[in-house]
Amino acid sequence: MKSDNKQLEIKSTNQKSTKKENENKEYAKLVVVKPVGYPFEFNLMDENIEITNSKLFEEYAREQWLGLVVKEKSHLFDQKIIPDYGFEIITAQPNNSIIAETTKIKVIIDEVKNKTKPNIISSNIHLSDIIGQENAKSKVKVITKYLENPQDFGQWAPKNVLFYGLPGTGKTMLVKALANELEVQLYLIKATSLIGDHVGDSASKIHDLFKKASENSPSIIFIDEIDAIALHRSFQSLRGDVSEIVNSLLTEMDGIIENKSVITIAATNNPTSLDYAVRSRFEEEIEFELPNDNERLQIIENNLKTMPLDYNLDLLKIVKSTKGLSGRDIKEKILKTALHNAIANDSEIITMSNINYAIESSKIKNTDIKGMFE
Ligand SMILES: Nc1ncnc2c1ncn2[C@@H]1O[C@H](COP(=O)(O)OP(=O)(O)O)[C@@H](O)[C@H]1O
Ligand SMILES: [Mg+2]
Repeated sequence: MKSDNKQLEIKSTNQKSTKKENENKEYAKLVVVKPVGYPFEFNLMDENIEITNSKLFEEYAREQWLGLVVKEKSHLFDQKIIPDYGFEIITAQPNNSIIAETTKIKVIIDEVKNKTKPNIISSNIHLSDIIGQENAKSKVKVITKYLENPQDFGQWAPKNVLFYGLPGTGKTMLVKALANELEVQLYLIKATSLIGDHVGDSASKIHDLFKKASENSPSIIFIDEIDAIALHRSFQSLRGDVSEIVNSLLTEMDGIIENKSVITIAATNNPTSLDYAVRSRFEEEIEFELPNDNERLQIIENNLKTMPLDYNLDLLKIVKSTKGLSGRDIKEKILKTALHNAIANDSEIITMSNINYAIESSKIKNTDIKGMFE
């Protein structure tokens, strides 16, 4: 099985040393490696690996690294399961030796790194930054209480919640804030990252996600933009991989045992495009609404506090003219455009003329887009 050919092949692709150089090297007695993740980012939850069977791992590692030179502080790369996943060589006895059939290979896992919240982009968003969306905030309060004392809830635990509503109304923002307030693990997944390249990839990614979450419970899985993967049956024929994804989501959501303290929150702009069976697994659907007058005023005020320029503005007028816009539109299309307009005109202060410019240009954009569909 371990033919010379194979060894040579690995040597030449992996380690830039020639056979000659290695001739006078000793065989390693022991190599201790530590997983340090990919040399580049990958999209599944986090970069930690978990060794489930260390004996098996040793054989697996020895077979693929046989004949390679091990130097402390250099790296070995996995070739098979996660190609290019790197392992730093912590110890090599002796240093600068060659991995042989008799070499012991041990892995140490960095517990601290493994216990940190995976994949939550360090954000400084807090619940109090979210204006309005009182229903969603109440639910978040229940979830928080539950995660603090799961035993009190028994069979009445919150399980699956769907956030829906127009884009830019604060769905993703709320979950990021929740991750900050809670001490529990939160797996923040953009739904499209669960789509695999090959048949079976998506199912195994989804399975791994739920497995990890239940091993680390209490925990929250947040699947953002779930409509990208859990499409309604009528769209499933268009995308062959969709039924695989839908079925594994259903299996996993049903499989989370009652008292496992794993909560799944999903968000979508369009709940009607969701697969009916997936949708029915959510015990509650919470709508994110467009901000009312008072909420728009607060959003405007809060954003103005962080502006790099001073301003002289009629806030109530802005409130009136931004009716129907989301929090994101107010920030990105109105306030940012107004600020940039002021900067472009070498002004030290943002005025209503900059705001009016932004409102006009956002109207033009909107009618353009509408026109495309008419
Ligand atoms: N309710 C809100 N309160 C304050 N800011 C908001 C709110 N909704 C949206 N925003 C602003 O818009 C941005 C985008 O919101 P996001 O949560 O990504 O929307 P969604 O996920 O619903 O599409 C936020 O980062 C925030 O600046
Ligand atoms: Mg979002």
